[in-house]
Amino acid sequence: MRGLKDKVVLVTGGGHGQDQSGSSLGQVMCTELAKEGSKIIVADLTQERADATAEEVRAAGGEAVGIAVDVVDEDSVKAMVDTALEAFGRIDVLINNAGIFGAYLPLLEIETSQWEKIMDVDLKGVFLVTKGVLPSMLERGAGVVINVSSASGVVASEVGAEYTTAKHGVIGLTKQISYDYGHQGIRAVGIGPGVIKTAAFEGAEITPDFPFYDLTMQAPAGRYGEPMEIARAVCFLASDDASFIHGHTIPVDGGSPTR
Ligand SMILES: NC(=O)c1ccc[n+]([C@@H]2O[C@H](COP(=O)([O-])OP(=O)(O)OC[C@H]3O[C@@H](n4cnc5c(N)ncnc54)[C@H](O)[C@@H]3O)[C@@H](O)[C@H]2O)c1
Repeated sequence: MRGLKDKVVLVTGGGHGQDQSGSSLGQVMCTELAKEGSKIIVADLTQERADATAEEVRAAGGEAVGIAVDVVDEDSVKAMVDTALEAFGRIDVLINNAGIFGAYLPLLEIETSQWEKIMDVDLKGVFLVTKGVLPSMLERGAGVVINVSSASGVVASEVGAEYTTAKHGVIGLTKQISYDYGHQGIRAVGIGPGVIKTAAFEGAEITPDFPFYDLTMQAPAGRYGEPMEIARAVCFLASDDASFIHGHTIPVDGGSPTR
């Protein structure tokens, strides 16, 4: 892909996922972008999680640092940005990937605290990290912001109102970043993954009671996606090959039905 070599890319949620085993989308994004020659800043909830991926990138001959961050905490985000700029001098590409899933409950059964937790991590986190990184991009008049939404950013599903609402919000936020800063050299885009076999269900037997089974099997691809299929699309969106894509969220979901 054009233009990724030596680019400094910050990936939030770049660790191995909540249970630290198997693949997460962020971790595979980091390793794929490193293969394209990008320098990677892996940001995750703990230093240990961030370092695990950074170490993998370095072991494969790439360049990476791990930084602990809680994307819902403005001070923590500021400290992450400062450390990242100290390490590499700039951030060319920000990937707002950190996120947590809904409770798979109908609206009346969702606790207010659960609603707030998801809105904080999945939506406010994107706002805060973008707010933290944008000033340094604007100083240089260039930067790419990639926000990870979801198929749930355009459809309702069993994942629940709090996640669906936050991910719809991420698509709106992406448009607004593009509207506000596109003319100043910032290219904001989104990606909408369908159901991807990350750590949460790698190895699990996929049966009709599996989350999103109907939605997934009705789609033309008729299968769950692989983390690599999202990571490669992210490499494209981050690259100069996607230079005329602004403000849109690209679905990478096997053709999930919209409703
Ligand atoms: N896996 C899927 O099927 C799927 C589908 C659509 C969208 N997504 C979205 O893709 C993104 C990654 O999903 P995943 O499946 O890899 O999840 P995951 O749970 O495997 O990984 C998410 C990572 O984010 C980190 N994280 C969570 N809260 C954080 C916080 N407050 N601050 C910093 N880091 C935090 C976790 O530690 C973890 O490493 C999420 O935004 C998710 O909503 C995933």
